[in-house]
Amino acid sequence: MSTNNRLAPALKKVEAAKDKKKLAKEIAAATKQFRFIPWPGPQTDAYLSKADELFYGGAAGGGKTAMLAGLAVQAHTKSIIFRREYSQIRGLEDEAAKLLNSRDGYNATEKVWRHSGGRILEFGSVPHEWDREKYQGRAHSFIGFDEITHFTPSIYRYLIGWNRSDVKGERCRVVVTGNPPTTAEGRWVIDYWAPWLDPAHPNPAKPGELRWFTTIAGEDVELPGPDQVEVDGRVVTPRSRTFIAAKLEDNPALMESGYAAVLESMPEPLRTMMREGRFDLGQQDADYQVVPSAWIDEAMKRWKGDGKTGATMTSIGVDVAGGGADETVIVCRYGTWFDQLICRKGIDTKDGPATAGLIVQHMRDACEIVIDTGGGWGNSAFDHLKHQNVRIRGVTGSSGSTSKTRDRQLGFVNKRAETWWKFREALDPAYGSGLALPPDPQLRADLTSPTWKLTPRGIQIESKDEIRKRLGRSPDRGDAVVLAWVTALETGLSSAPGGRLQFQSKARMGYGRIKRSFRR
Ligand SMILES: Nc1ncnc2c1ncn2[C@@H]1O[C@H](COP(=O)(O)OP(=O)(O)OP(=O)(O)O)[C@@H](O)[C@H]1O
Ligand SMILES: [Mg+2]
Repeated sequence: MSTNNRLAPALKKVEAAKDKKKLAKEIAAATKQFRFIPWPGPQTDAYLSKADELFYGGAAGGGKTAMLAGLAVQAHTKSIIFRREYSQIRGLEDEAAKLLNSRDGYNATEKVWRHSGGRILEFGSVPHEWDREKYQGRAHSFIGFDEITHFTPSIYRYLIGWNRSDVKGERCRVVVTGNPPTTAEGRWVIDYWAPWLDPAHPNPAKPGELRWFTTIAGEDVELPGPDQVEVDGRVVTPRSRTFIAAKLEDNPALMESGYAAVLESMPEPLRTMMREGRFDLGQQDADYQVVPSAWIDEAMKRWKGDGKTGATMTSIGVDVAGGGADETVIVCRYGTWFDQLICRKGIDTKDGPATAGLIVQHMRDACEIVIDTGGGWGNSAFDHLKHQNVRIRGVTGSSGSTSKTRDRQLGFVNKRAETWWKFREALDPAYGSGLALPPDPQLRADLTSPTWKLTPRGIQIESKDEIRKRLGRSPDRGDAVVLAWVTALETGLSSAPGGRLQFQSKARMGYGRIKRSFRR
């Protein structure tokens, strides 16, 4: 039964009550112990939600931060609430102080609050990816994230690993809050809570509805229900997620204060995102973003699953894992059509020969392979394939460039800047781009991430390390796609729809002997 359904009969009783003053006294007495009473509607639904991971998000001022503080001080013995930056913790402290009516028991240096007979509330910040280690192994029955879109998915997934209680029978839960993402980096929340937030999801969920997920081979998989499943010989218990939309209308005080007018005066699309809590509107591109998001969306819209039927594989782009959690990504390109990405965990491509084997397995039509030789096992895989007499080219991002922009006005600081800029030019709708990219959310995030600047030596693109800091992972998928385009520039293949595909009458599968040698 939804909260509204539970509330309706109670409100009827209130309306029917003859002595309203007496009733008010009774209510005040009954709720005297409560430090936080959620407002009727979504805030109460969020407070009572059964989900292991709840996203209570949407409009500004809907009472999201207060709800986190309310749950932490009242419903759990040991809680922690995170903000991305240390300085942002201030707002959380104020919200908790309002509920606890004082700052007694608070150690502002350690950010630990001991209150209400032994309960503990902590605040944490994780500005850098490595800061997450500070919280390793520290159990909390309640973990909150305020403004979740400021965090990377890797920080989030790491920190919720310690959502457990030392108190027998205590409920454990994770609650995140936030406005709709305004940058490409925050967009991961739409994928994580896709059944509620992604308008293209094939099986949309209602607000508050529980859906069940687990991770199989590093990928999130939605399961039909809460029943345990066997994955690689292990029994796995799925975790539930839900999303509940916060509205400004939920907040009587702010509505009365005229805050709605403040939000109404914001420029679009910010107004609609913040006033109505809409997640389906485009994020604003960063200033100096290399590839405009709209160009990538167009290319993804153009993509049809049968794009390679009867076509010749033109090239393969390979970004080799640099180790750890990175992926090795292989992209097969057929003219202007890019196939779905082949992604393998670094552990599966742990040396040059293994990586070379994987590439050859997917190679067709004697196409050219373009591989990143800037690090990881790329060099070793390159050497290995060179000795097999396949057409292969290594691209080292830091090496020099003699190329120029399409209008011949600017040069590039290095090869990385050149390859990315040339890919940008190929997507430019002003020149009638026909490039078709597979609709992969992580690829979209990678391609929209880098920014550029103009230096005396020409165009410079943000380094992979800098992007890794913001995304919390390496933009391997984007790099692989950019590499797969490199050879198109020399073959003169136009990115326009006319230059779409190259056909040949008889398919040449190519390099049978080499493939056989890798199969052994
Ligand atoms: N249940 C409640 N009872 C009393 N006051 C509340 C309640 N919920 C929220 N408030 C108050 O309403 C105001 C706005 O709430 P809050 O800051 O939590 O909104 P928000 O959704 O986090 O806003 P933003 O989108 O700006 O972060 C705060 O002053 C908060 O203390
Ligand atoms: Mg808030």
